[in-house]
Amino acid sequence: MTHHTSANTTNCDENCSSCSPAQPPQPQKGLPPKSNMDVKHVILVLSGKGGVGKSTVSVNLASALSSHGRNVGLLDLDFHGPNIPKMLGIEDQKPAVLEKHIEPVHVTGTLSVMSMAFLLPDTSTPVVWRGPMKMVAIRQFLDEVNWGSLDYLVVDLPPGTGDEALSIAQLAPNVRGAVIVTTPQDVAVLDAVKAIRFIEKLEVPVIGIIENMSGMTCPHCGETIDLFGRGGGKKAAEDLGIPYLGAIPLDPALVKAGDEGRPYVLRHADTPTWNAVDAVMENLVKLVES
Ligand SMILES: Nc1ncnc2c1ncn2[C@@H]1O[C@H](COP(=O)(O)OP(=O)(O)OP(=O)(O)O)[C@@H](O)[C@H]1O
Ligand SMILES: [Mg+2]
Repeated sequence: MTHHTSANTTNCDENCSSCSPAQPPQPQKGLPPKSNMDVKHVILVLSGKGGVGKSTVSVNLASALSSHGRNVGLLDLDFHGPNIPKMLGIEDQKPAVLEKHIEPVHVTGTLSVMSMAFLLPDTSTPVVWRGPMKMVAIRQFLDEVNWGSLDYLVVDLPPGTGDEALSIAQLAPNVRGAVIVTTPQDVAVLDAVKAIRFIEKLEVPVIGIIENMSGMTCPHCGETIDLFGRGGGKKAAEDLGIPYLGAIPLDPALVKAGDEGRPYVLRHADTPTWNAVDAVMENLVKLVES
Protein backbone atom coordinates (compact mmCIF):
# COMPACT_ATOMS: atom_id res chain seq x y z
CA MET A 1 0.00 0.00 0.00
CA THR A 2 1.38 3.40 -0.95
CA HIS A 3 1.30 5.86 1.86
CA HIS A 4 1.64 9.61 1.50
CA THR A 5 2.67 12.44 3.76
CA SER A 6 0.65 15.61 4.02
CA ALA A 7 3.08 17.20 1.58
CA ASN A 8 2.52 14.51 -1.02
CA THR A 9 -1.05 13.37 -1.53
CA THR A 10 -0.91 12.62 -5.22
CA ASN A 11 0.92 9.29 -4.96
CA CYS A 12 -1.19 7.58 -2.37
CA ASP A 13 -3.33 4.64 -3.48
CA GLU A 14 -6.99 4.23 -2.60
CA ASN A 15 -6.26 1.89 0.31
CA CYS A 16 -4.24 4.41 2.23
CA SER A 17 -5.81 4.45 5.65
CA SER A 18 -4.29 7.80 6.49
CA CYS A 19 -6.16 9.42 3.62
CA SER A 20 -9.60 7.86 4.04
CA PRO A 21 -12.03 9.31 6.55
CA ALA A 22 -13.34 6.85 9.18
CA GLN A 23 -15.09 4.12 7.22
CA PRO A 24 -18.14 2.17 8.32
CA PRO A 25 -17.59 -1.58 8.69
CA GLN A 26 -17.60 -3.41 5.37
CA PRO A 27 -20.15 -6.15 4.76
CA GLN A 28 -18.92 -9.73 4.48
CA LYS A 29 -20.05 -12.19 1.85
CA GLY A 30 -22.53 -14.90 2.89
CA LEU A 31 -24.39 -15.28 6.17
CA PRO A 32 -22.15 -14.96 9.19
CA PRO A 33 -22.66 -17.61 11.88
CA LYS A 34 -24.58 -16.93 15.07
CA SER A 35 -22.69 -15.14 17.80
CA ASN A 36 -21.35 -17.33 20.58
CA MET A 37 -21.90 -14.67 23.24
CA ASP A 38 -22.95 -16.06 26.61
CA VAL A 39 -26.60 -15.12 27.09
CA LYS A 40 -29.60 -17.09 28.27
CA HIS A 41 -32.43 -15.02 26.82
CA VAL A 42 -32.34 -12.41 24.09
CA ILE A 43 -35.47 -10.26 24.14
CA LEU A 44 -36.27 -8.01 21.17
CA VAL A 45 -38.35 -4.91 21.85
CA LEU A 46 -40.27 -4.04 18.72
CA SER A 47 -43.19 -1.98 17.48
CA GLY A 48 -44.87 -1.29 14.17
CA LYS A 49 -45.31 2.42 14.79
CA GLY A 50 -42.65 4.87 15.96
CA GLY A 51 -42.76 6.75 19.23
CA VAL A 52 -44.93 4.28 21.11
CA GLY A 53 -42.41 3.83 23.93
CA LYS A 54 -40.01 1.00 22.94
CA SER A 55 -36.92 2.73 24.33
CA THR A 56 -38.72 3.77 27.51
CA VAL A 57 -39.95 0.21 27.98
CA SER A 58 -36.49 -1.24 27.17
CA VAL A 59 -34.73 0.97 29.73
CA ASN A 60 -37.24 0.28 32.48
CA LEU A 61 -37.58 -3.42 31.73
CA ALA A 62 -33.81 -3.88 31.70
CA SER A 63 -33.46 -1.87 34.93
CA ALA A 64 -36.28 -3.80 36.60
CA LEU A 65 -34.77 -7.14 35.58
CA SER A 66 -31.34 -6.11 36.82
CA SER A 67 -32.73 -4.95 40.15
CA HIS A 68 -34.37 -8.38 40.46
CA GLY A 69 -30.99 -10.07 40.45
CA ARG A 70 -30.62 -10.77 36.72
CA ASN A 71 -27.45 -9.97 34.85
CA VAL A 72 -28.67 -7.75 32.04
CA GLY A 73 -27.25 -6.29 28.85
CA LEU A 74 -29.12 -3.54 27.04
CA LEU A 75 -28.29 -3.21 23.37
CA ASP A 76 -29.50 -0.11 21.56
CA LEU A 77 -29.90 -1.02 17.89
CA ASP A 78 -31.60 2.19 16.84
CA PHE A 79 -28.68 3.35 14.71
CA HIS A 80 -30.51 6.42 13.45
CA GLY A 81 -31.95 7.58 16.76
CA PRO A 82 -30.04 5.94 19.60
CA ASN A 83 -31.83 7.18 22.74
CA ILE A 84 -30.83 4.64 25.36
CA PRO A 85 -27.66 6.40 26.65
CA LYS A 86 -29.58 9.66 27.09
CA MET A 87 -32.40 7.89 28.93
CA LEU A 88 -29.85 6.33 31.30
CA GLY A 89 -27.82 9.52 31.78
CA ILE A 90 -24.69 7.93 30.31
CA GLU A 91 -24.53 9.76 26.99
CA ASP A 92 -21.17 11.33 27.84
CA GLN A 93 -19.53 7.99 28.52
CA LYS A 94 -17.45 6.04 26.04
CA PRO A 95 -16.99 2.30 26.06
CA ALA A 96 -13.33 1.39 26.54
CA VAL A 97 -11.93 -0.07 23.32
CA LEU A 98 -9.29 -2.58 24.44
CA GLU A 99 -7.01 -4.76 22.37
CA LYS A 100 -9.33 -7.77 22.20
CA HIS A 101 -12.76 -6.39 23.03
CA ILE A 102 -14.93 -3.38 23.70
CA GLU A 103 -16.01 -2.87 27.30
CA PRO A 104 -19.72 -1.91 27.48
CA VAL A 105 -20.76 0.99 29.67
CA HIS A 106 -21.63 -0.42 33.10
CA VAL A 107 -24.63 1.37 34.61
CA THR A 108 -24.68 -0.88 37.68
CA GLY A 109 -22.93 -4.14 38.53
CA THR A 110 -25.73 -6.01 36.76
CA LEU A 111 -26.64 -3.66 33.89
CA SER A 112 -24.34 -2.99 30.92
CA VAL A 113 -25.15 -0.96 27.83
CA MET A 114 -23.91 -0.71 24.27
CA SER A 115 -25.17 1.82 21.76
CA MET A 116 -24.13 3.37 18.48
CA ALA A 117 -24.50 6.72 20.27
CA PHE A 118 -21.28 6.02 22.19
CA LEU A 119 -19.34 5.68 18.96
CA LEU A 120 -20.54 8.84 17.22
CA PRO A 121 -18.52 12.03 17.58
CA ASP A 122 -21.57 14.04 18.67
CA THR A 123 -25.33 13.79 19.00
CA SER A 124 -26.00 15.50 15.66
CA THR A 125 -23.88 13.14 13.53
CA PRO A 126 -26.17 10.91 11.46
CA VAL A 127 -25.38 7.31 10.62
CA VAL A 128 -25.69 6.77 6.86
CA TRP A 129 -25.37 3.02 6.48
CA ARG A 130 -27.03 0.44 4.33
CA GLY A 131 -28.43 -2.80 5.78
CA PRO A 132 -25.33 -4.99 5.26
CA MET A 133 -23.12 -2.48 7.10
CA LYS A 134 -25.55 -2.47 10.00
CA MET A 135 -25.36 -6.25 10.05
CA VAL A 136 -21.58 -6.12 10.46
CA ALA A 137 -21.90 -3.57 13.26
CA ILE A 138 -24.53 -5.71 15.01
CA ARG A 139 -22.24 -8.71 14.77
CA GLN A 140 -19.47 -6.67 16.40
CA PHE A 141 -21.86 -5.53 19.14
CA LEU A 142 -22.57 -9.18 19.91
CA ASP A 143 -19.13 -10.74 19.44
CA GLU A 144 -16.66 -8.05 20.37
CA VAL A 145 -18.38 -6.45 23.35
CA ASN A 146 -17.35 -7.97 26.65
CA TRP A 147 -20.87 -8.61 27.94
CA GLY A 148 -19.79 -11.32 30.37
CA SER A 149 -22.34 -13.97 31.22
CA LEU A 150 -25.83 -12.52 30.77
CA ASP A 151 -29.24 -13.72 31.88
CA TYR A 152 -30.93 -11.26 29.52
CA LEU A 153 -29.95 -9.17 26.55
CA VAL A 154 -32.72 -6.61 25.97
CA VAL A 155 -32.53 -5.23 22.44
CA ASP A 156 -34.14 -1.86 21.70
CA LEU A 157 -35.01 -1.71 18.00
CA PRO A 158 -36.06 1.11 15.69
CA PRO A 159 -39.72 1.11 14.69
CA GLY A 160 -40.99 -1.12 11.92
CA THR A 161 -39.74 -4.14 10.12
CA GLY A 162 -36.25 -3.23 8.98
CA ASP A 163 -32.70 -4.53 8.70
CA GLU A 164 -31.88 -4.27 12.40
CA ALA A 165 -34.58 -6.71 13.46
CA LEU A 166 -33.69 -9.07 10.62
CA SER A 167 -30.00 -9.03 11.50
CA ILE A 168 -30.35 -9.46 15.25
CA ALA A 169 -32.79 -12.34 14.71
CA GLN A 170 -30.21 -14.03 12.47
CA LEU A 171 -27.10 -13.30 14.52
CA ALA A 172 -28.04 -13.46 18.19
CA PRO A 173 -28.08 -16.79 20.00
CA ASN A 174 -31.00 -17.82 22.21
CA VAL A 175 -33.49 -15.30 20.85
CA ARG A 176 -36.31 -16.03 23.24
CA GLY A 177 -38.69 -13.77 21.37
CA ALA A 178 -40.06 -10.31 20.75
CA VAL A 179 -42.03 -8.04 22.99
CA ILE A 180 -44.37 -5.87 20.93
CA VAL A 181 -45.06 -2.39 22.27
CA THR A 182 -48.16 -0.53 21.12
CA THR A 183 -50.34 2.31 22.26
CA PRO A 184 -54.06 1.50 22.52
CA GLN A 185 -55.04 3.56 19.47
CA ASP A 186 -56.17 1.84 16.26
CA VAL A 187 -53.31 3.00 14.01
CA ALA A 188 -50.68 1.76 16.44
CA VAL A 189 -52.43 -1.57 16.95
CA LEU A 190 -52.74 -2.06 13.17
CA ASP A 191 -49.00 -1.49 12.79
CA ALA A 192 -48.30 -3.76 15.75
CA VAL A 193 -50.11 -6.58 13.97
CA LYS A 194 -47.83 -5.99 10.97
CA ALA A 195 -44.77 -6.19 13.23
CA ILE A 196 -46.11 -9.45 14.70
CA ARG A 197 -46.54 -10.97 11.22
CA PHE A 198 -43.00 -9.85 10.35
CA ILE A 199 -41.43 -11.35 13.44
CA GLU A 200 -43.33 -14.61 12.88
CA LYS A 201 -41.86 -14.75 9.35
CA LEU A 202 -38.40 -14.60 10.94
CA GLU A 203 -39.44 -17.58 13.06
CA VAL A 204 -38.97 -15.56 16.22
CA PRO A 205 -41.71 -16.19 18.82
CA VAL A 206 -43.81 -13.28 20.08
CA ILE A 207 -43.48 -13.26 23.87
CA GLY A 208 -46.34 -10.83 24.29
CA ILE A 209 -47.85 -7.39 23.79
CA ILE A 210 -47.39 -4.38 26.08
CA GLU A 211 -50.01 -1.64 25.90
CA ASN A 212 -48.13 1.57 26.65
CA MET A 213 -49.59 5.04 27.26
CA SER A 214 -52.73 3.30 28.43
CA GLY A 215 -54.84 5.86 30.28
CA MET A 216 -53.62 8.73 32.40
CA THR A 217 -54.65 9.86 35.83
CA CYS A 218 -55.20 13.63 35.97
CA PRO A 219 -52.85 15.01 38.63
CA HIS A 220 -55.45 17.67 39.55
CA CYS A 221 -58.77 15.86 39.79
CA GLY A 222 -57.63 12.23 39.89
CA GLU A 223 -59.94 11.32 36.98
CA THR A 224 -58.65 8.91 34.35
CA ILE A 225 -58.26 10.27 30.83
CA ASP A 226 -57.91 7.73 28.00
CA LEU A 227 -55.91 9.92 25.65
CA PHE A 228 -55.06 7.16 23.17
CA GLY A 229 -58.03 4.98 24.06
CA ARG A 230 -57.68 1.89 26.18
CA GLY A 231 -57.64 -1.83 25.68
CA GLY A 232 -56.46 -1.88 22.04
CA GLY A 233 -53.30 -3.83 22.83
CA LYS A 234 -55.12 -6.24 25.09
CA LYS A 235 -57.80 -6.90 22.47
CA ALA A 236 -55.17 -7.44 19.76
CA ALA A 237 -53.41 -9.95 22.03
CA GLU A 238 -56.70 -11.80 22.60
CA ASP A 239 -57.63 -11.75 18.92
CA LEU A 240 -54.21 -13.03 17.85
CA GLY A 241 -53.86 -15.56 20.66
CA ILE A 242 -50.70 -13.87 21.97
CA PRO A 243 -49.91 -13.33 25.67
CA TYR A 244 -50.77 -9.89 27.04
CA LEU A 245 -47.96 -8.64 29.27
CA GLY A 246 -49.87 -5.69 30.69
CA ALA A 247 -50.53 -1.97 30.40
CA ILE A 248 -48.30 0.94 31.38
CA PRO A 249 -50.13 4.24 31.97
CA LEU A 250 -49.31 7.53 30.34
CA ASP A 251 -47.35 9.25 33.08
CA PRO A 252 -45.47 12.57 32.83
CA ALA A 253 -43.02 11.20 35.43
CA LEU A 254 -41.87 8.63 32.84
CA VAL A 255 -41.09 11.44 30.38
CA LYS A 256 -39.21 13.38 33.07
CA ALA A 257 -37.23 10.32 34.14
CA GLY A 258 -36.26 9.60 30.53
CA ASP A 259 -35.24 13.18 29.82
CA GLU A 260 -33.24 13.40 33.03
CA GLY A 261 -31.51 10.09 32.41
CA ARG A 262 -32.85 8.36 35.51
CA PRO A 263 -34.70 5.09 34.87
CA TYR A 264 -38.17 5.53 36.35
CA VAL A 265 -38.29 2.13 38.03
CA LEU A 266 -35.06 2.75 39.91
CA ARG A 267 -36.18 6.11 41.27
CA HIS A 268 -39.76 5.40 42.28
CA ALA A 269 -41.49 2.59 44.09
CA ASP A 270 -45.06 1.52 44.65
CA THR A 271 -46.69 4.12 42.40
CA PRO A 272 -49.35 2.84 39.95
CA THR A 273 -46.82 3.26 37.09
CA TRP A 274 -44.06 1.45 38.99
CA ASN A 275 -46.47 -1.39 39.81
CA ALA A 276 -47.52 -1.57 36.16
CA VAL A 277 -43.92 -1.84 34.89
CA ASP A 278 -43.12 -4.36 37.63
CA ALA A 279 -46.14 -6.48 36.64
CA VAL A 280 -45.06 -6.42 32.98
CA MET A 281 -41.57 -7.51 34.02
CA GLU A 282 -42.94 -10.30 36.23
CA ASN A 283 -45.19 -11.56 33.42
CA LEU A 284 -42.25 -11.55 31.03
CA VAL A 285 -40.04 -13.44 33.47
CA LYS A 286 -42.79 -16.02 34.04
CA LEU A 287 -43.11 -16.66 30.31
CA VAL A 288 -39.40 -16.63 29.57
CA GLU A 289 -38.03 -18.55 32.53
CA SER A 290 -40.75 -21.19 32.96
N1 LIG B 1 -45.96 5.51 29.43
C1 LIG B 1 -45.51 6.70 29.04
N2 LIG B 1 -46.00 7.82 29.60
C2 LIG B 1 -45.58 9.04 29.20
N3 LIG B 1 -44.67 9.24 28.25
C3 LIG B 1 -44.15 8.16 27.67
C4 LIG B 1 -44.51 6.83 28.02
N4 LIG B 1 -43.80 5.98 27.25
C5 LIG B 1 -43.02 6.73 26.47
N5 LIG B 1 -43.22 8.04 26.72
C6 LIG B 1 -42.60 9.19 26.06
O1 LIG B 1 -42.94 9.13 24.68
C7 LIG B 1 -41.85 9.51 23.88
C8 LIG B 1 -41.47 8.36 22.94
O2 LIG B 1 -41.01 7.30 23.73
P1 LIG B 1 -39.81 6.37 23.25
O3 LIG B 1 -38.69 7.16 22.74
O4 LIG B 1 -39.59 5.41 24.34
O5 LIG B 1 -40.56 5.66 22.03
P2 LIG B 1 -39.93 4.74 20.91
O6 LIG B 1 -41.00 3.77 20.52
O7 LIG B 1 -38.66 4.17 21.38
O8 LIG B 1 -39.67 5.79 19.75
P3 LIG B 1 -38.87 5.51 18.38
O9 LIG B 1 -39.84 4.75 17.52
O10 LIG B 1 -38.57 6.87 17.88
O11 LIG B 1 -37.66 4.69 18.73
C9 LIG B 1 -40.73 9.89 24.83
O12 LIG B 1 -40.78 11.28 25.02
C10 LIG B 1 -41.08 9.17 26.12
O13 LIG B 1 -40.62 9.86 27.27
MG1 LIG C 1 -36.71 4.26 20.48
